[in-house]
This record gives sequence, C-alpha cells and structure tokens, in this order.
Amino acid sequence: MTIIFHRSSREFHLFNDHISYLIKVLENDQLGQLYFGARVDDADDHSYLVENTYRPVTAYVSKDDYSFSLANVRQEYPAYGTSDFRLPALELAQEDGSTVTNFTYKDYRIIKGKPKLPGLPATYVEDDRDAETLVITLTDEKLAIDLELSYTIFANLAVIARNARFINHGTTSPQLTRALSLNLDLPDADYDWLQFSGAWGRERQVKATHLRQGEQSVSSTRGASGHMENPFVILKRPHTDDFQGEALAVSLVYSGNFLALAEVDPYQVTRLQIGINPFHFSWQLAPGESFQTPEALLAYSATGLNVLSQSFHRLYSKHLVRGEWRDRPRPVLVNNWEATYFNFTEEKLLAIADRAKEIGAELFVLDDGWFGKRTFETAGLGDWWPNPAQLPHGIAGLSQQIHARGLKFGLWFEPEMANLDSDLYRNHPDFLLKTPGRRMSQGRRQYVLDFARPEVVDYIHDLMAKVLREGQVDYVKWDMNRNITECYSAAFPPAQQGEIFHRYILGVYSLYERLIQEFPHILFESCASGGGRFDAGMLYYAPQAWTSDDSDAAMRLLIQTGTSYGYPLSSMGAHVSAVPNEQVHRVTPLNTRGNVAFFGDLGYELDLTSLSKEELAQIKEQISFYKRYREVFQHGTFYRVQNPFAGDPNWVGWLVVSPDQRTALYADFKFLNDMNAPYRRQVLPGLAPDLTYRVEEVGKGTVGDFSGRDLAHIGLVTSDAASGVEEATTDFASRLYLLEGSRA
Ligand code: GLA
Repeated sequence: MTIIFHRSSREFHLFNDHISYLIKVLENDQLGQLYFGARVDDADDHSYLVENTYRPVTAYVSKDDYSFSLANVRQEYPAYGTSDFRLPALELAQEDGSTVTNFTYKDYRIIKGKPKLPGLPATYVEDDRDAETLVITLTDEKLAIDLELSYTIFANLAVIARNARFINHGTTSPQLTRALSLNLDLPDADYDWLQFSGAWGRERQVKATHLRQGEQSVSSTRGASGHMENPFVILKRPHTDDFQGEALAVSLVYSGNFLALAEVDPYQVTRLQIGINPFHFSWQLAPGESFQTPEALLAYSATGLNVLSQSFHRLYSKHLVRGEWRDRPRPVLVNNWEATYFNFTEEKLLAIADRAKEIGAELFVLDDGWFGKRTFETAGLGDWWPNPAQLPHGIAGLSQQIHARGLKFGLWFEPEMANLDSDLYRNHPDFLLKTPGRRMSQGRRQYVLDFARPEVVDYIHDLMAKVLREGQVDYVKWDMNRNITECYSAAFPPAQQGEIFHRYILGVYSLYERLIQEFPHILFESCASGGGRFDAGMLYYAPQAWTSDDSDAAMRLLIQTGTSYGYPLSSMGAHVSAVPNEQVHRVTPLNTRGNVAFFGDLGYELDLTSLSKEELAQIKEQISFYKRYREVFQHGTFYRVQNPFAGDPNWVGWLVVSPDQRTALYADFKFLNDMNAPYRRQVLPGLAPDLTYRVEEVGKGTVGDFSGRDLAHIGLVTSDAASGVEEATTDFASRLYLLEGSRA
C-alpha cells in the first residue's frame, strides 16, 4: 500500500495490490477525480483523464476561453454555484446570504495508520503498517475556512475510507447545509444500482435498477438509519453477479439521517454521494470551530459481489468492531421475549434458564419488562431500576442465580426513550425532544429523549451504569423502538435546530462509548425494533445487532441474504423461535430454523419449558454442532451460492469456509416444495482445489469424498439421486453439509 504525490502533475495516487485511486489538483486549484478501480500502474501524469471539452450551454471558469468548466470535469468534493450544476458535496450558507465557495488546494500530509474521528465511529488499524492516510487540505481564502479531505488506504483490502472536515479560521459564522462524506464522479453510467430496502419485519431486501440520466437515491429522515433503507449501496455492471464482474459499493459509518445518491449527468458521468442527509440538516460553523463528517467506505471488486461483500465482512470484523468480543466466539443465547413477553416472574425466568443450561446455551437474556413500572408498553421507559414486583431479588439477585447455573446474564435496555408514565418524565418533562407549541406524536406509546443534551445522556448513563455494576451483567441488548418526530431541542438556539438530529446521534455514540469503556467485558447487541439501525456506525460500539423482529426462518433467508451484502455473519443476531411463527404464523421445520440461525450469532427465543423432550434433544444437538463450528459460521468466508434475489427465488444456498479452507459448511434451503423436480447439483467456490473433502450431510451421514476442484466444477449433488424423484421433503426443507478437507 502506497500513497504517492507527483509534484509536477500535482496528482495523488493511492494504491495497493487490489485498487488504485487517482486525484488531481485541477488548473483552477480545485480537486479533480481521475480514477477509482482495479490497481493500475503508477505514472507521473494521468492528466489525459481530465476529459474537458467545449459543450454548448455550459459555463466556463475562465473569461478568456472555453477550455475549462467544472460541469465537464470529474471532481472530488464539488460545490454548486460556479460552473457545475449537479448536486454538490457541500453547501455553505454565508452571513451575506451567499452560498458560493472556492475551496482550492493548500497542502497535503501523509500519515502512517489511520487517525480516529473524535466522537464518531470509524474503521481503525491497530498496527500503523496496515494503513496509510492522505489528508489534502483545501482552503476558501475569502472565508478563511479549511476543508480537509482524508483518504485511508488499507494494506490488504480493496477499500478506501474517506471523511471531510471543515475548520473555521475566520471571523464569520456560516451555516453548513450540506457536508457529505464522499463524492465520487465515475466516468460512465452503465451500472445497476442495488439498494437494501424494506420495512419493519422485512429489512434489507435487494432492489436493483439500472442507472439512467437524473437522480436515484435512498435516504432516512427518521433520526436512525432505519428499516426502510440502509446506508449502503452497490453499483455493479449489468452482467456482474455474485461470482464475476465489476462492482463498487459505498457504506456510511453512521446511524442517523443519511443520503445515498447517484446522479447521472447528460454525458453519462455518474456522481455517487453518501453522507448525512442534507434535508433538515444545518451546522453553525462558528469562528474557531470545526465540523467533522462521518466516515464513508468505498470498496471495489473486479470479481463479483461475493468478493465485494467479503471486503466489508473482513473490514468490519477486524477494523470496525472493537473490544474483547471482536475475536471471541459469540455466545449461544436464550432470550425470553417471544417466550413470555411482559408476562414473567423470577421463577419462570429461572425455569427457562434451567432448560437453557441443559441444552448447552451460554447466555440468558432478560428482555423488556424488568424495570420501573413496566408491565406493558405504556409505562416505565426511563426508570432503569428493577421492578420488585416482578423481580423480588432485583437484577443483582437474578444475575447471581443465572451465574450460579453456569450461564452468563444479559439485559435489555431502551436508553433513548421515556414513557409519559415514568418517574423520568414526571421529574424531567423537559428531557424529551419536542417542538414548542406543537403536539408530540407518540410511537409505541413512548417519546424520544433529547440526547443532544449532555445532561440527559448523563442521567441515563448513571442509571444504566448502576444496574450494570450491581448486576453482574455480561451482555446488553440496546433497543430503540421509535423514530424521532417534532425534532427540536429546548437547549439550543433557533439557528442551531438543524443540528439536533446529528447531535442526537452523537449523544447516543457518547453513551455507548462511556459504557464500553467502563464495562469492557460486556457484549453489546444493538436493536431497533429488529433491524431498524443495522449500520456500520453501530458496529463500532455493538459487535452484533438483532437482524429483524421477524424470526420466521423463511423470511430470515431473505433478510439475512440481503444483510450479507454489506455486513458479516458475526454481526447478525439470528434466533430459532417457536412455530407457528409469531410474526407470519408459518410453520417451518426445526432443523431449518436451526440451519438458518447457524449463519449468524445463534440464539433461541421461545419458551423452552413448553417444548417436548424430542425438540429439546434436537436443539441440544443443534447447539453442540454450532459450538463446534461457530468460528467458521461467525468468522469464516461467506458466499451467497444460491441467491433468491438474483437467481431462482425458490432456493437459497449459503456457504462458509474457514480461513485455512479445511472446513466448510454449505446449507441448501428450499422455500416451496416442488414436484417431479430436476436433480440439483451445486458448485461450491472457495475450497482448496487440491484438498479432498469428506462431505457429510449433517444428521444423515457421509455423502462421499470429493476434491475441492471437483466440488468447484462438477459440484455436489444435493437432490436424492437414488430415489429417482426429489425425495419427499416438505416446504421450507433444508440440508446442511459439513465438508472437511485433508491432503489425499
Ligand atoms: C423490540 C425488539 C424486540 C424486543 C421488544 C421488546 O421490538 O426488536 O426484540 O426486545 O422490542 O419490547
């Protein structure tokens, strides 16, 4: 990995074995974009890539000729108002009412490693040899504002991390009304745009559309990244699939309002952008102050979408998730929510915990309903102390009993919320976000705390820290069950109300940071009515996230496939729940429910005390199998082998391969049963060609010995060839294969 500055051409080249990124200081001293993609040769001068030309109806920079227009050249961090009419990366509303800026090249520095972003989540390296960072400083001389654009290239990943920072050295107080994290102008528009959209209970479904002239975007205005859209998009060539072809992707390391956008101009230049949503955003840049954008990640693959996803998986697993739990196997948990909802006693919880221990689970999680007067959703949020009516021995007593059974203990919180029926609200009615003189909209009968205010965050911190200290808590599920309305903070002046959404999420991050520093042994799992805040920002604090409130195995096949495009399996909380399923009332076989949940952080979310002996025995078997291979499931290399969004919608094939390629697990899932079906043969990528794999169908027996080369090209027969017809399976049937490789 290297960063080179070619002084005579004023070009920067960042490259490693996989990718190159080329930037040029243009003739007007603004920054131009030359190239991003597969690694290219270094050269002194790539200025032939500045495709400047005369075009009618264009405005030009110089008064004397038609040779240079910002409308024609690809830029790094464009502004509106001079000669470029496309959407800008920044907008700065100045005291005189103008918005025109001119950020020109000042200097650069190259830093070993990767600096932290104060108060914000960001990727990191532990060893400075693993990354190098280029910081280019631009300045607007009239305003005396510097703009620092940072680019980090990693030693062994096809990823560039970017961010922007504005520093006001001047005497005026302009308002930033657009400050994106990344702008990338691409030389053509022959791309499919992939977004990960949905709603509560059906998050991150893949939607694809070919780019066309004009704008295509996804965004959030909810105060969270949201169930509906995800701050992650892919641009792929039309023929690109999971296994071949070119693609790039951007991801925002941020959990609040975002915008991801592609604008195709009349000359087929694609402007790709991601950052804080400019809608309802402004930031007062007072003299001496600075504004730091969140980090954006840009990845590239020349060989298909699996490789693209794997770059994010590796980056997040090793350079975003932090702390003791980053590399540790994630515990198998039992959660009481779908087992009891609010209706539990200490006795009932302990009965579930007894069963949890018997079946080999490692962590018992007490979900909503243990605190304040929380016997239903109308009361108690904000009162983070145990309810003696439900827990006579408190959290301390319960956690002790759970530990005495040899289980770890986990607890649910929803720190950002309050019910009106709470001591918090009675004592601090001013702690809620609300617009003066306007009604407060409710969601799930709860209201959002003003986390833009440090004293509100302090208040919640002190209550949570007390419970965590006294209660021997090993795991926290941090939930967030409604979006922000009437966003307004009484603590800020009118001119700063556009800052509140961003300040809110900074408050959330600050509370997370304090708690993980104070309780480094706690495993945090984020949650927002399921996957309503499943983003890279959260992974910096909480190594795993509850993927969706929809725990139906069939829906999870889609949700987890969609999620896998951008996020590693180790980040996906995946639970086996009861049938008929609570959300969709579907009945799926227990072995399929297990097989789906294996490809994530396995948990059980059902009343273990009401299961039959046979079911408990089967679950015990599942847990012991998962424990044996969880390193591979959680941290192996993952491939979407059969993708219901891209191929036959009736089939899903997931494969994980250990880093040494000696162990692999392949699961073949079917939605609806078919009749007199074709034979199925599945080619399996990612194996070592020269190893011989003993293939076992889990629960059935040995299938045979095959070389990695044969499995990659001939494939594995997954239908029951001997019976002549597809065997008498049911809807939602699945098969799990274990492949263990050795030298013949
Ligand atoms: C949300 C979560 C669930 C559960 C409930 C508790 O819906 O996503 O898993 O914790 O809240 O109220």
